[in-house]
Amino acid sequence: MRVLVTGGAGYIGSVTVEALRERGDTVVVVDNLTTGHRSAVDPSVEFHNMNIRDTLRLTSLLESHRIEAVVHFAASSLVGESVSDPAKYMENNVGGTLSLLRAMKEAETKQLVFSSTAAIYGEPTSIPLTEDHPTVPTNPYGLTKRFMEQAMETYAAAYGLRFVALRYFNACGAIEDRGEDHSPETHLIPLILQVAQGQRNLIKVFGTNYDTPDGTCVRDYIHVADLADAHIRALEYLGSGGKPLICNLGNGQGFSVMEVIETCRDVTGKEIPSAESDRRAGDPGRLIADASLAKRVLGWTPQVPGLRDIVSDAWHWHVAHPDGYPG
Ligand SMILES: NC(=O)c1ccc[n+]([C@@H]2O[C@H](COP(=O)([O-])OP(=O)(O)OC[C@H]3O[C@@H](n4cnc5c(N)ncnc54)[C@H](O)[C@@H]3O)[C@@H](O)[C@H]2O)c1
Repeated sequence: MRVLVTGGAGYIGSVTVEALRERGDTVVVVDNLTTGHRSAVDPSVEFHNMNIRDTLRLTSLLESHRIEAVVHFAASSLVGESVSDPAKYMENNVGGTLSLLRAMKEAETKQLVFSSTAAIYGEPTSIPLTEDHPTVPTNPYGLTKRFMEQAMETYAAAYGLRFVALRYFNACGAIEDRGEDHSPETHLIPLILQVAQGQRNLIKVFGTNYDTPDGTCVRDYIHVADLADAHIRALEYLGSGGKPLICNLGNGQGFSVMEVIETCRDVTGKEIPSAESDRRAGDPGRLIADASLAKRVLGWTPQVPGLRDIVSDAWHWHVAHPDGYPG
């Protein structure tokens, strides 16, 4: 299959590009390297350093390469930044996706797999979260993702776009040569592992009085290799004529912040100092996915659901790449 991957130099995108390569697909990556890394993409993969908002160039790439499907990761995804600078999120996420949809319409590329997020649900009214849970995002990042889902639904009805929107919970872990290297880093596991590597003094625990077994927030962590596998399955589903689909991708089990810290201490053998801090605004106590729809329709089941394995894979990558990607 000929697949264009936007954001293929980022964390989840680069792991998915590897999975597509392994399958023998022809992959073209488009990434402007705002948060991604050129060296995260194998030199044998065709790479275009460009902004997805360049609709003309994107259209011409889709046409000249006779692209059959697009996997769309490119986005800005820092929740805090989206609150202080919502325009950036509207322009890059909504503007970028509308540009991509226009290019796909021009080039008559009909299949799209999209990175959505649990952030579209907002404050949960029931756990585990199913896809029909109300979507009331509490930050502009989640709002842009929900709008993009709605844009795809509208284009599906009017222009025959076929899409799968995958609502990821917390992506984590690593594969042999691809891992998490965000700057600034905001995700819990790499932050803890940076403490283990002496790159940070301690890990802050935001809130210890939640209604959870140990009082700290519980989140659903999903291994990046399992996310990549879900994208492949989504492409297969679309290739066999599947209708538009929105589904959760999560482990179905939650781990608390303290459990994650303890597991990191155990895996790394390091002390990893932690400090209690106040709750952060808008941080729900528990976010756990019901991923039964993805299991049923895509035949997807996480292969690395255990926290210890997830942390071990991440640690392995961080030890091999203490300064992240070289470029
Ligand atoms: N990491 C998570 O836990 C998580 C959870 C839910 C959803 N998501 C979504 O998954 C996707 C990938 O996340 P990630 O953690 O790999 O992020 P990332 O920042 O590592 O990757 C995003 C990539 O997109 C590129 N990019 C951004 N804007 C672009 C533009 N206008 N044109 C071209 N390239 C552009 C960046 O350079 C980067 O390589 C994002 O859409 C994110 O919102 C991530």
